[in-house]
Amino acid sequence: MKLGILLSGRGSNFLAIADSIQQGRLPNAEIAVVISNIADAPGILAARERSLPSIIIEAGGRKRAEHDAAMVACLRAHNVDLVCLAGYMRLLSPKFLQAYPLRILNIHPSLLPAFPGLDAQQQALDYGAKVTGCTVHFVDEQLDHGVIVLQKAVPVLDGDDARTLSSRILEQEHVAYTQAIARACSGGYHITGRRYVLRESQT
Ligand code: GAR
Repeated sequence: MKLGILLSGRGSNFLAIADSIQQGRLPNAEIAVVISNIADAPGILAARERSLPSIIIEAGGRKRAEHDAAMVACLRAHNVDLVCLAGYMRLLSPKFLQAYPLRILNIHPSLLPAFPGLDAQQQALDYGAKVTGCTVHFVDEQLDHGVIVLQKAVPVLDGDDARTLSSRILEQEHVAYTQAIARACSGGYHITGRRYVLRESQT
């Protein structure tokens, strides 16, 4: 399974995936390309340091459809099977979604459908939630909405602020993304309506 990683920032989820591959936890996956829409995103610099194919495709005033066409062309040129959004902070156009149906994963730092959009950890604190977490889901045309692959719960502690809560959620994100990719590689699931159901032999 050839992965195309899209990022815009720090890239810790990308690095967690790269480590999982390097350490044998994803034996059937390889990173075919890392693409950033931000030229100096730390994540793309880290990809370059690891000698992974690293490409910057800035939006630069172009329309979303035009920018996405360049992204899709790049993913196709690298024979990508599965697209992993890892802190990629742009919505995808319908043409992008059509190019990779049920083959684009995203990670979001809340238990969706709670707290979609920006600053999900602060949203959870402001709401007074006692439990939040992270969600890996397929991307569809609505924001933070597609079929859920897996979720990890994280308690909200009385002393938490956005920084402490985000860092505990992030630890779980790193575990969750590898598990979701392993499931995608195994193909041991089916989707009924909104429900992603594992085959009995899968965990
Ligand atoms: C992660 O917390 C990810 O869940 C979030 O951005 C962060 C990226 O961190 N994504 C979203 O909020 C998408 N709606 P990273 O660059 O260190 O992987």
